[in-house]
Amino acid sequence: TRTRVAIVGAGPAGLLLSHLLGNAGIESVVIDDRSREQIETTIRAGILEQGTVEILEQSGASARVRTAAHRHDGIELRFAGDGHRIDFADLVGRGVYLYPQHEVLKDLIAVRLERGQDLRFGVTAERVEEPASALPRVIATGPGGERIVIEAEFVVGADGSRSVVREAVTGSQTGGYFREYPFAWFGILTEAPPSADELIYSNSPNGFALISQRSETVQRMYFQCDPDADPNALSEEQLWEQLQSRVPGTTLKEGPIFQRDVLRFRSFVAHELLHGRTALIGDAAHTVPPTGAKGMNLAVADVVVLERALRALLLEGDSRLLEAFPETASHRIWKAQHFSWWMTSMLHVAPDASDFDRLRQLGELRSVVESEAGRRYLAEAYTGWPLEGLA
Ligand code: DHB
Repeated sequence: TRTRVAIVGAGPAGLLLSHLLGNAGIESVVIDDRSREQIETTIRAGILEQGTVEILEQSGASARVRTAAHRHDGIELRFAGDGHRIDFADLVGRGVYLYPQHEVLKDLIAVRLERGQDLRFGVTAERVEEPASALPRVIATGPGGERIVIEAEFVVGADGSRSVVREAVTGSQTGGYFREYPFAWFGILTEAPPSADELIYSNSPNGFALISQRSETVQRMYFQCDPDADPNALSEEQLWEQLQSRVPGTTLKEGPIFQRDVLRFRSFVAHELLHGRTALIGDAAHTVPPTGAKGMNLAVADVVVLERALRALLLEGDSRLLEAFPETASHRIWKAQHFSWWMTSMLHVAPDASDFDRLRQLGELRSVVESEAGRRYLAEAYTGWPLEGLA
C-alpha cells in the first residue's frame, strides 16, 4: 500500500489526525491491532476540555458531542471533611464536558468509514523502516497473518503507551523521562444515579477518591489502591465501604457494580517526538497519571500541532513547522505533566507519608482553595490552555 500519511493506532490521536488531514485533502491509512468492537467498548477517560469539544465539533468529527456531552462548570475539592468548589465558569469563563472516550471513538470511526477512508482493524504494526527517509514504511501483519507494507511520505505513531513506532523515533521502546507512583486507581462502574452534581476529588486520611459520572444511570468512581491490588479480591460491599470512607460528608448512592479495574499509572515523555519523517503523538509520546483528566485532551492538542505542520509539509513543501513540532508540542506536554503530577501528589496519600507530609498537604490544599489565584491556576489548567494556532 502507498499513502501520504501512515498512522499507527486508531485511538483518539490517530483517528482525529486522519480526520483533520482528510478535511485538508491529505489521504492517510490508519491501522490498529485491536478490533473495532474492542476500541468502541473499552472504558477509558471521560472529561473533554472545551477546546477538545470545539475541535471535534468544528471539524465535523463528532456531531453528537455538543448535544450528548454534559457540561460541567466546576469541580469540588474535598479535604479535612469540607468541600470546596472550583468554579470554572466564574474563574475562567470556560467549562469541561463529560463525554466518554469510547463515544468519541465511535464518532470518529463512523465518520472515517463514511468518508471511505482506509481504516484497518486487526492489523499489527511490527516496526517502522527508514523513518528518516523521504519514504518511510510501516511493516505490519494482517488479521490472517499476511505481511503488509505501508509506504508513506510520513509515519505517525499514535499507538499508545506501549508504542511500536517509538523505537524508530527514540532508538528504543522505552526511551523517555519518567516517574512512577506508589499507588494506583481502583475504578468501578455502577448502575446508580449520580451521587453529586459535579465531580468530587477527595483527599481523606484513607486515601484519594474521585466520584465521577457517565450518565443518569451509570456512575464511574475511583479510589486509591495498591498498584498490585487484585480487582476481584473485594466484595461489592467492601468496595462501597472503601469508597464511602474516602468521601466523608457525602452518602454515595450505591448500585450493582458491573465493572472493576485497577489502573496503574505513571508519568512519561519520550526523549524524542520526531525523527526525520516519523513522529509520535498521544500516549505514544507521553502518558500522564489520570488525576486531572489530561490524557486524551493532550493527545488532541498534539494532533492540532502536528496536523498543521503536515499540511505545510505535504501541501506546500514547507518543513519549518514540522521541524518546530517537538519544541512546540513539548511546552503543553510539560505543562500537562506538571499539572497531572501536581493534582496526583496533592490529592493522594503516599504509603510512606509522614505526619509532616500529611499536614503539609492540607496546607497546600488550603493555599489553593483559599486563594483566587490558586483556584484560577487550577481552573485554567483543568479546562485546558489555549490550543496552539487554532483559528
Ligand atoms: C475521569 C477520569 C479522570 O482521570 C478525571 O480526572 C476525571 C474523570 C472519569 O473517568 O470520569
